[in-house]
Amino acid sequence: MNGLDAAFGYAPGKIILMGEHAVVYGQPAIAATLDRGVRVAVSKRTDDGLSGPTFRGTGLGLETGARPDPDGEGPEALRNALAELIAMFGDEVRGLAFVAEGAIPAGSGLGSSAALSVALVRGVFRFLSKSVTDEEVMGYSHRLERVFHGNPSGVDHSVIAHGGLVWFKKGEPDNVVERIQPGRRIRMAVGLSGKHAGTVHAVGALRDRMRRHPKAYQHLFDGIGGLAQEVRAALEEGHLAKVGELMDLNQGYLNALGVSTPTIEKLCHAARDAGALGAKLTGAGGGGAVIALCDDDPRPVLKAFERAGAHAFAAEIGSDPHEVDDVDPVTVRSAAG
Ligand code: MEV
Repeated sequence: MNGLDAAFGYAPGKIILMGEHAVVYGQPAIAATLDRGVRVAVSKRTDDGLSGPTFRGTGLGLETGARPDPDGEGPEALRNALAELIAMFGDEVRGLAFVAEGAIPAGSGLGSSAALSVALVRGVFRFLSKSVTDEEVMGYSHRLERVFHGNPSGVDHSVIAHGGLVWFKKGEPDNVVERIQPGRRIRMAVGLSGKHAGTVHAVGALRDRMRRHPKAYQHLFDGIGGLAQEVRAALEEGHLAKVGELMDLNQGYLNALGVSTPTIEKLCHAARDAGALGAKLTGAGGGGAVIALCDDDPRPVLKAFERAGAHAFAAEIGSDPHEVDDVDPVTVRSAAG
C-alpha cells in the first residue's frame, strides 16, 4: 500500500469562548483549541475477510472494541463516518485499522467528534504519505462532522483543523476563519456538568423555539454577536477582566436561549465566587462543560468545581496543533522504507 507500517493523526479538543448557537444563525464566534485531544493510530489491518476498516476507541464515549464495519454492526454514527472515509479516500481505507485514544470526554461540548474527524483525516493522509493543507483538512473533516452532527456551523472542526484562537463566521459560500493573537496567556478551569443530550438535539430544539418567537430570538443572537466583537478587541488588548465580564453576559444570553441547566448555573456561580473572571457553558449546552477564565492560578476554581460535584481540569487554550505534531513522533517507517 505504501512505505509506512503506521501513522498517527492528532487533533486537539476545543472550547467556544463566545457565540455558540448564535454562530449557526450567521453571528461570529470565538473558539480555541485545548491542550488535550484525540490521537488516532492508523495501520494496515492484519486480519482479513472483512469488507471494511476496524476501529477501536478509548476515552471517546464510543464502545471500545466495536467493529463499525460499514456493512456490519457497530455504533451507527461511527460506522457512517468510516463509510464516509471510504467515499472520500477510496477502497484503500477498507484495509485499515484505526485505534483512537481520547483525552476529551464525549458529550461535554469540548469537540470530541470534531477532533476525532480531524485526527482521522490527518491520520489517513499521513498513512497514505500524502501532504494536506489546513484548508483541505477542514473540507474533509466537515464531511465527517456532518455525519456526527447533521448540519453544523463548521466552527468546531474549523478551529480544530486551524489551531489556536480563532474568529469564525459561517459564510456563503466560504466560512471566515481568522487567527486572533491574544495579548496575554489564557488559562481556564473546565468543569464537567454531566453529559449533554447531543448537539443535534440542542440545535434542533432551539430552532423550534426560534420559529415560535423569531424576533425575540433574533434579538438575542444579535446581542451575542455584538459581545463577540467586544471580546475580540479585549483579547487582543490582553484585557482579561473585560473578557470575563463579557463571558458572564454571554452566559445570560445562553440561559435566555434555553440551553443552560441548573447544574451549569450552579457551576458558573461557584467559579465566579472562587475568583474566576467570568464563566459560561461551552458548546451545545443542556449539560457538558463550563469554562471559567482565570486571571492566574486555576486551582481555587478547580476546587470550587469539585466541591460542587463536578470533575474538573485546568487548560491553557489556543495551543497550535502543528506544534504538538512537531514534538511528537507522527509516523513510523517500515523497515522496508
Ligand atoms: C457546538 O459545539 C456549537 C453549536 O453552535 C453548534 C454549531 O455551531 O454547529 C451549538
